[in-house]
Amino acid sequence: MLEATNLIKASLATGRALLRTPRSSEEEVAVARTSPYLVPIRSLGANHRQRIAEHLLSLGPHDRYLRFGYSAQDEQIQRYVDSLNFERDEIFGIYNRKLALLAMAHLAYAPDKSYDSCAEFGVSVLASARGRGYGARLFDRAAMHASNDGISLMFIHALSENEAMLKIARKAGARVEREGTESDAYLQLPPSTLDTRMTEMVEETVALTDYRIKVQAKQFWSFLAEVQAIRQSAIEAQSRTPP
Ligand SMILES: CC(C)(COP(=O)(O)OP(=O)(O)OC[C@H]1O[C@@H](n2cnc3c(N)ncnc32)[C@H](O)[C@@H]1OP(=O)(O)O)[C@@H](O)C(=O)NCCC(=O)NCCS
Repeated sequence: MLEATNLIKASLATGRALLRTPRSSEEEVAVARTSPYLVPIRSLGANHRQRIAEHLLSLGPHDRYLRFGYSAQDEQIQRYVDSLNFERDEIFGIYNRKLALLAMAHLAYAPDKSYDSCAEFGVSVLASARGRGYGARLFDRAAMHASNDGISLMFIHALSENEAMLKIARKAGARVEREGTESDAYLQLPPSTLDTRMTEMVEETVALTDYRIKVQAKQFWSFLAEVQAIRQSAIEAQSRTPP
């Protein structure tokens, strides 16, 4: 329950911070590193498809190769996004204050019922947002969700050169099997408990609240920019008018 209380406090602090003047990206990195709870991860629905596409299309060629295991072209990424099944699978995301999707993870459930105790994890973090722990946090969140959903094995397919991904998996206790240039990591998940179910519920509520505050803050700053533009053009028009 202490976990839940901390999350609620952190959510309120985030809400206050969002209505302050926007921070620089260096400050955002510092905050992300020092505040373990201030990274709201929310579950994404089909209405986020467009932002998911923007996120994945903005990955460079090497990152696409690491993420999909091949050099995915724009059309292939678009097909992947169009085929995302939000009913069956779980997609998680981390938004910044401008509502750009900084990081996302796809927890894919097996379509075949005979493998319904397994799920595959895939993740990407924008290059500008790396090293803040987002990849590891998305992994932990997906593992908790999978466990709460009755999944007992989460696996990750990664290229053997992908040190960051394999480090995240190993640190979480996954067994990594390397086969040349490719590796598979297997994480055995413990059964869910009341605590993991409560924690996920609170995390999701905090993340939704955070997202709504970000939407409002973005509307507020756009409104302010419009008012200032109108004011500026009125001042300019006045200065052009002869006395
Ligand atoms: C893999 C990826 C998701 C990691 O995201 P991230 O948010 O930067 O990762 P984190 O900040 O949580 O770092 C996790 C760990 O990896 C380490 N790490 C990060 N980048 C690293 C790198 N290039 N080489 C070695 N270790 C690295 C971090 O130091 C951290 O270790 P620590 O916990 O001991 O400090 C990101 O690099 C990415 O999107 N890559 C392209 C797509 C991809 O590879 N997806 C995975 C395949 S499904």
